[in-house]
Amino acid sequence: MNILILGSGGREHALAWAALQNPKCDRLIVAPGNAGIAGIAEIATLDIEDGDAVAGFAAENAVDFVIIGPEAPLARGVADRLRAAGVSVFGPDAAAAMLETSKTFTKEICDAAGVPTARWARFDAAEPAHAHVEAEGAPIVVKSDGLAAGKGVVVAETTAEAHAAIDANFDGDGGAAVVIEEFMTGEEASFFVLVDGTTILPFGTAQDHKRAGDGDTGPNTGGMGAYSPAPIMTPDVTEAAVERIIRPVVDEMARRGTPYRGILYAGLMIEDGAPRLVEFNARFGDPECQVLMMRLGAQALDAMLACAEGRLGEARVAWASDHALTVVMAARGYPGPYEKGDAIGGLDALTGTSSQMVFHAGTALAQGGAVVAQGGRVLGVTARGRDLMQARERAYAMCDAIDWPGGYFRRDIGWRALRT
Ligand code: AMP
Ligand code: GLY
Repeated sequence: MNILILGSGGREHALAWAALQNPKCDRLIVAPGNAGIAGIAEIATLDIEDGDAVAGFAAENAVDFVIIGPEAPLARGVADRLRAAGVSVFGPDAAAAMLETSKTFTKEICDAAGVPTARWARFDAAEPAHAHVEAEGAPIVVKSDGLAAGKGVVVAETTAEAHAAIDANFDGDGGAAVVIEEFMTGEEASFFVLVDGTTILPFGTAQDHKRAGDGDTGPNTGGMGAYSPAPIMTPDVTEAAVERIIRPVVDEMARRGTPYRGILYAGLMIEDGAPRLVEFNARFGDPECQVLMMRLGAQALDAMLACAEGRLGEARVAWASDHALTVVMAARGYPGPYEKGDAIGGLDALTGTSSQMVFHAGTALAQGGAVVAQGGRVLGVTARGRDLMQARERAYAMCDAIDWPGGYFRRDIGWRALRT
C-alpha cells in the first residue's frame, strides 16, 4: 500500500522507519520530512495544514493511508477532510483533537466523565484570575487556553509568578482565557493508547525529560530524551489509567457524537499508585514516539491501520521485555536562540538497525549532501536493550560518535528509572 506521513520531526522519522519494517508498505511518502527521512522515503512538498491540498495529493498519488504526526493539521481539520474523501487516516477529527487544543474543553469532558484531574477554574479576564490566585495560594498552575505547544503553561512556585503569568496571558497574544489549576504532586508518565472510536488498545508507556539541563534543571523544552517502558506504569496503575481516565473520556466523546480516533496521549501524574490526568495530546509525543516505534517495529503499522479502519478489537500488540531510550541532541542555546547550518559528522558510520537508530528532527541536506543542523532539537539518538541500562549505554555510545561541536545533550536520560 501507499502511505503518506505528514510532519518533519523525529517523531515522523520514527513513524516512517517503523512503517518501512512492515511488508505492507510498498511506497512511503513523507511531507515535508527532513534529511534523515529523505534517506528512507520519498519527500513531498505540500502544505500539510491545508486539507484540500493533502486530499488532492492523496488522490493524485493513490495514497491508501495517511498518518498525521503533529497537532496543527489535526486542529485544522485535515483528518476530517481526508475521511470525507474516503481516505483511511490515522488521527482524530478536529472536534476530537480538542482534547489537545482546548484545555477548557478537556476539563469539561473530565468533569462530565468523572475523571481524576486537578481542580480548575477558567477566567476570561485578569482581575478575577488574580483574585483566585490570592485565594488559593502557591504553588499553582496557570495555563493559556489554546494550542501553545506546552509553552502556555506556567507552574508558579509563588503567587507573584502566577500573577505575572496571568498578566502575560492577557497582555500578549496568548489565549483569550486562562485556566488556573491546582498544583498536583507525584511522578509524571506518558501513557499512549490507540482508540478507534470505541475500542482502546494500550500502545506503550514512556517518560520524558522536559528540562534542558542535567538533573532536570534549566528551561522547559519540547523534550530532551525519553525512555520506554515507564517503570511507574505498573499493571495496576495502567489498568487504573484505562478504567478511570481513558475509558470514561472515550465513552463521553462517542456519546457526544465526536468519537476519538487515533493515538491518545495521556500525560499522567501518579501518586500512591493513583493516576490523575495532567493533559491529553491528540498525537504521539516527540521524543516518546521514537522509543515506542523502536520497541514496536513493524507491528506499529498494523495496529495504526486497524485503528483507522475501526477494527482495533482484532489488533494485538506483542511486547518484548525490552527497553528503549532516546537522547535528544539539540543546538547549543536551545530552547533559546541558536545557530543553524552547522555540519554534523559521524552519522554515516552509525548504521541503523532494529536496535539502534539516529532519528532526525531539525536537519537538512546541504549542497554536496552533508547533513546540517536546521532546528532546535536536531537528532534523537535511540537504542534498544534487554534492560534500560544497556539501552542507555548504547545510545550514549552513539552520541559520542557524532561530531557536532555546536550541539549539546543531557547526560542523565533515564535517571529516574535507573536510580536505586
Ligand atoms: P501541559 O502542557 O498541560 O502538559 O503542562 C506542561 C507540564 O506542566 C506538565 O508536563 C507538568 O509537568 C506541568 N503541569 C501541568 N499542569 C500541572 C498541574 N496541575 N500540576 C502539576 N504540574 C502540572
Ligand atoms: N515530549 C512531549 C510532547 O511531545 O508533548
